[in-house]
Amino acid sequence: MTTSPTSAARPPLSQDELKTLVGQAALQYVVPGEIVGVGTGSTVNKFIDALASMKDQIKGAVSSSLASTERLQALGITVFDSNEVDNISVYIDGADEIDGAGNMVKGGGAALTREKIVAAQSARFVCIADESKLVQTLGKFPLPVEVVPMAAQRIIKQFAAQGGQGVVRLKDGKPLVTDNGQWIVDITGLLITNPLAFEAEVSQWPGVVTVGVFAYQRAQVCLLGTAGGVKTLTFE
Ligand code: A5P
Repeated sequence: MTTSPTSAARPPLSQDELKTLVGQAALQYVVPGEIVGVGTGSTVNKFIDALASMKDQIKGAVSSSLASTERLQALGITVFDSNEVDNISVYIDGADEIDGAGNMVKGGGAALTREKIVAAQSARFVCIADESKLVQTLGKFPLPVEVVPMAAQRIIKQFAAQGGQGVVRLKDGKPLVTDNGQWIVDITGLLITNPLAFEAEVSQWPGVVTVGVFAYQRAQVCLLGTAGGVKTLTFE
């Protein structure tokens, strides 16, 4: 990993300001004339707002959630179905955790399946996050796993056998239903020391739609919002 500060020290910024800063900084990775992959979450919302300033320079976007699609369209940015698009040069998204090699935990906003699909379609993943997301080892943030509802309790037991505690994510007292009509289980108590092996194994469990570890689709770049400004971490 190499680190290079892109701006001088400045007074402490709020978390919201840090998100705005990295959302704007991500514009430098958008390729004019092309389609950009767009993630989901409060940090990406800042990127979408910034992207409106160059909407006439891009063909449009492929989006990873209904929420991002609505926000993009409201700003006049064309959203393409991922099946209509061959390759995407860059995918911009946030993370719940990112380690020093660009592996991430994602899915805090329940959009992990579509995020992984668009990331897999993209040549480069640029992660935008504030510095609280940078960890030495993945596992501090509850790990989101999208599951077929009838498999939820068995999958929770499989994680329990590995030392993890799982719960079905609720919304208004009922299981949260994802954009894909599935449920999310959140797992705590795991230390993910080998993200690639972990992702490969859990992805094979029957009923798992997507595990929130992004090691195969790790970031090549992370724009990290810090009190001193945006730091660029590269993992290429
Ligand atoms: C959405 O499902 C997630 O993967 C988000 O990318 C992640 O939760 C980061 O979201 P914030 O930018 O809101 O922290």
